[in-house]
This record gives sequence, C-alpha cells and structure tokens, in this order.
Amino acid sequence: MLSDDLKSMFDRVIARYPLKRSAIVPLLLFAQDELGYISDEAIEEIARRVEVPPIEVVEDIGYYSMLHRHPIGKYNFQVCTNVSCQLLGGEEILAHCSKRLGIGHKQTTSDGQFSLEEVECLGACCGAPAMQVNYDFYENLTPERVDRLIEELKANGRAR
Ligand code: FES
Repeated sequence: MLSDDLKSMFDRVIARYPLKRSAIVPLLLFAQDELGYISDEAIEEIARRVEVPPIEVVEDIGYYSMLHRHPIGKYNFQVCTNVSCQLLGGEEILAHCSKRLGIGHKQTTSDGQFSLEEVECLGACCGAPAMQVNYDFYENLTPERVDRLIEELKANGRAR
C-alpha cells in the first residue's frame, strides 16, 4: 500500500517535468525508498500517473541496477569491478565483502541488514576501487576500510 505522502510526492515530482514519462525513474526511486523495493502496485500507480503502459516502467527498472523488484537489505553494497576498479583491487574488495558478510552476488544477509551486488562502473573511477552503499559512495577502498564501514553501519546506521 503506497502512503499518502508518497502519492503527494509523485504529484510534486511529475509537475516538474514537461513530459510526464520523464518522471518515471525519480518516482521509482521514491517508491523504492518507501517500500524497500518496487512493488507491482508501485509500477501500476506510476504507469497510470505518467500515462504509459506498465511494461514501460518495468523496462526502466530492468535498465537501472539501483532499482530492485524484490526486497533487499537495509544497506545495499554495490561493488564495482569494472576496469579502473578491477585494476586497483575491486575484485578483492568484492571477495572481502562477500566473505565478511557471508553472502554472494545479489544475496541478502538473513537479518535483512546487508545485500551485496557486483556492478558495472559507478562513475567513481577516480576513486577506484569504489562501491556505493544506498546513495553514498565509498572510494579508495581497502579491506580494512570495508571492515570499518560495516562496523559503523551496524553501530550507527551510517558511515563516514
Ligand atoms: S570502473 Fe569502478 S567506478 Fe568506474
């Protein structure tokens, strides 16, 4: 069930765009922030509001790795292993995250706190190896920095 606050947000976001369909991705992000994933109901509601068939909304979800059709962990680790990150240890960072969290690609810890994904370039190549956790970027990663990040997220819900 989508909240009234979310529906009001949908109205405000759609009003910013000359073409309603241009608001699809922002609407999906707001829906995901509220629900933890993008539900069938959210897809139907967004499609109705921007006046496109639901399949167009589904296609947009398929294109963007930050959009999820199923519940994921509270903290979603997206580790880049594309060229710049690969050359500077991205695969080791991914392996370390996997070992430390006890989960693999596209898996979530049993307590629902952490998810892990291997992703393509995040656009943070200058800070390689890099990863994104929800909307925050972490760069120049080392296994020790990953350990600190996990501990800070567990303790404070946010990391510096
Ligand atoms: S290659 Fe990893 S952020 Fe670009």
